Amino acid sequence: MTIEDTKSAATPATGTRTIRGAVLEAIGAERPYADTRPIHVQNLELEGPGKGEILVRIEAAGVCHSDLSVVNGNRPRPVPMLLGHEAAGIVEELGEGVNDISLGQRVVMTFLPRCGECSGCNSNGKKPCEQGSASNTEGTLLGGNRRLSREGEPVQHHLGVSAFATHAVVSRRSVVPVGSDVPAHIAALLGCALLTGGGAILNVAKPAPSARVAIVGLGGVGMAALITAIATGVEHVVGVDTLPAKLEAARNLGAADAMTSAEALERGEKFDAVIEAAGHPRALEAAIALTKPGGITVTVGLPAPGQSVSIDPLTLTAEARSIVGSYLGSAVPEHDIPIYEQLWRSGQLAVEGLVSDTIPLEDINRAMDTLDGGHALRQIITFS
Ligand SMILES: NC(=O)c1ccc[n+]([C@@H]2O[C@H](COP(=O)([O-])OP(=O)(O)OC[C@H]3O[C@@H](n4cnc5c(N)ncnc54)[C@H](O)[C@@H]3O)[C@@H](O)[C@H]2O)c1
Ligand SMILES: [Zn+2]
Ligand SMILES: [Zn+2]
Repeated sequence: MTIEDTKSAATPATGTRTIRGAVLEAIGAERPYADTRPIHVQNLELEGPGKGEILVRIEAAGVCHSDLSVVNGNRPRPVPMLLGHEAAGIVEELGEGVNDISLGQRVVMTFLPRCGECSGCNSNGKKPCEQGSASNTEGTLLGGNRRLSREGEPVQHHLGVSAFATHAVVSRRSVVPVGSDVPAHIAALLGCALLTGGGAILNVAKPAPSARVAIVGLGGVGMAALITAIATGVEHVVGVDTLPAKLEAARNLGAADAMTSAEALERGEKFDAVIEAAGHPRALEAAIALTKPGGITVTVGLPAPGQSVSIDPLTLTAEARSIVGSYLGSAVPEHDIPIYEQLWRSGQLAVEGLVSDTIPLEDINRAMDTLDGGHALRQIITFS
């Protein structure tokens, strides 16, 4: 299938259904969100899949900081928007031209569809897809379609997925099939936390088993980096966060040590590879300071636009260090998701340990508060 197959504002969709979903109405509401309720759970209309698209019944969706960043305005997006991008579900309908996936197949959603043709898609994961990035910014599916509406008014898609809902229509290029033995909540986590955090390890830092690795920021994404480093045989993995509860969780997931950023900087231990997964400039500065001469700092956090960090350029040059940004784990999802699937199946990847809570869709505003306070690994929304 080419991008031309999916690109058509006039692509006709099949029958419309009523779904239940969590729609962000306005950006930048006061906290706590449990009181101001910027996200409304409501009925809305979902058109059937058009050319190159599929209908998925959502089984499980994780609440990621990138959802919160739309709510608080750090990642400005058009509203009203149906949030949620880390999810898994069952294929229920195939749009025209989709012939490489079956009805009833469990799929993992990925948050950046790939057109398959641009320089990003030809970079082996190093650079994001240009068309996918543009449609994500616009709040459409790949190809420009919107399938969500409310009383005739369009509702924006979040990252081509919009999974905080009973059903989603997405591009075929937004999903990767997984085995039916992978439970939905595990499959959901493969699509963002693992792809992103794990990818920072597998595709960018690539630490040797003897390397010393630190993870700065221990939410779902940082913990995914931590368990991936451990699963691939790295013995010395250290977790760093500002919250003591996160340090204990990192130790429980197998970290050799865990400490606050202040403690880590004070100790003076340096690491061959440091992954920053906090999304805060101070965390990136700490990550850079913790990196050894010759080492690599990988940043996956997404702070608010326009922020800056302070770096001593002499240490970068004289110590031959590198700082690399990584989006979507610098991954080709259809290649990488089966790797995490297999690591999980073999018992080496403790994905279950990333689940801190299971919640109903109605609790989404409260879930944003929990995440905002730094208290969550992954909260999983389930749909009965
Ligand atoms: N690059 C990508 O493709 C990609 C994909 C998904 C998420 N993200 C981003 O990755 C980041 C992490 O996502 P998440 O869902 O795990 O978030 P999270 O909120 O669950 O976790 C962030 C953690 O960082 C900690 N933290 C905050 N400031 C810190 C500091 N100064 N030093 C050390 N720790 C600090 C918090 O206590 C928290 O435990 C977010 O910015 C998110 O938007 C990026
Ligand atoms: Zn995410
Ligand atoms: Zn592309």
